[in-house]
Amino acid sequence: MTTRAVVIGVGHYLPERIVENAEFEQSLDTTDDWIRSRSGIERRHFAAEGQTTSDLAARAARDALQDAGIEADDLDAIIVATSTADLTFPSAATMVQAELGMTRGFAFDVQAVCAGFVFALANANALILSGQAKRVMVIGAETFSRIMDWSDRGTCVLFGDGAGALIVEAQTGNGTNADRGILSIDLNSDGRHRDILYVDGGVSTNSIGFLRMEGKEVFRHAVEKLAATATTALEKAGLNGSDVDWVVPHQANIRIIQGTARKLGLDMDHVVVTVQDHGNTSAASIPLALSVGKDRGQIKPGDLLVTEAIGGGLAWGAVVLRW
Ligand code: UT7
Repeated sequence: MTTRAVVIGVGHYLPERIVENAEFEQSLDTTDDWIRSRSGIERRHFAAEGQTTSDLAARAARDALQDAGIEADDLDAIIVATSTADLTFPSAATMVQAELGMTRGFAFDVQAVCAGFVFALANANALILSGQAKRVMVIGAETFSRIMDWSDRGTCVLFGDGAGALIVEAQTGNGTNADRGILSIDLNSDGRHRDILYVDGGVSTNSIGFLRMEGKEVFRHAVEKLAATATTALEKAGLNGSDVDWVVPHQANIRIIQGTARKLGLDMDHVVVTVQDHGNTSAASIPLALSVGKDRGQIKPGDLLVTEAIGGGLAWGAVVLRW
């Protein structure tokens, strides 16, 4: 008998305002065709003025609670993966906790940029396997529109806002890879690459700053490292690419998603793709894709999933789970 962190609910929230690629043609030397062909992005959502990351996160959390059929006080912990928390402190997670009316348990944020959800899910799994929590809400939520340099066409057309949430619960499995729940995890970071994707400001540098990216360099690392981490995670679970029903990748660029799938030996009909509608929502992109993939009828109970993400740090990783 083995304890497994099993998904019991999923949900998401996207801000109302949708911005099509064509809108950027008004203010930048860019075209819908360039954005579409180089990234696969067609549109993205932007938070309204005054709408914060914890607002988006709380809405996604409510959606996930409803899906699981439980109340906020049935949770032991909330982890929010974000690089765009409302305030320097307290954490976005404690704001969500208050917003949900949850009066017990604990809440904290995890910051691993676009890989944040994978790192947060690994934390939730560790809390469950060590007996410190039975039910954990894991949220990815971002308002990257707040850290865009709107004059930099190489970045501002690529990102969007949104939130996704997953609830995992301790259940008993047989200890085989036929179990439902999280089967294996692979986490990595390499701070030598910290200057190819970063925000040029922050609390201890006295400015908010804007996102800066050497796109080509990040792209090069992404395909190679994402395929490697997904393969390693699958191997840790005694599985390989042919066992995978769905890859649920970080949604940064359709060409990265296609290149990674190719390296894993998988057709695109085994990949959940939402980048066309959401853009890159950083830590929110995987839980958003899980929720949308479930709503579309793609992801079904018992399916074997591998999620993989890479972002600033660089930080990257993968989680293998049976839905
Ligand atoms: O979530 C974290 C991980 N982030 C990522 O995974 C992003 C990784 N990188 C990428 O997705 C791609 O590198 C980009 C989409 C950012 C860029 O695609 P690319 O094929 O690597 O293009 P490039 O950077 O080589 O740029 C090609 C040209 C450049 O012009 P020159 O120097 O060749 O004359 C850019 O200035 O495209 C130009 N360009 C644009 N043109 C029109 C850059 N941005 C734009 C734009 N519209 N928005």
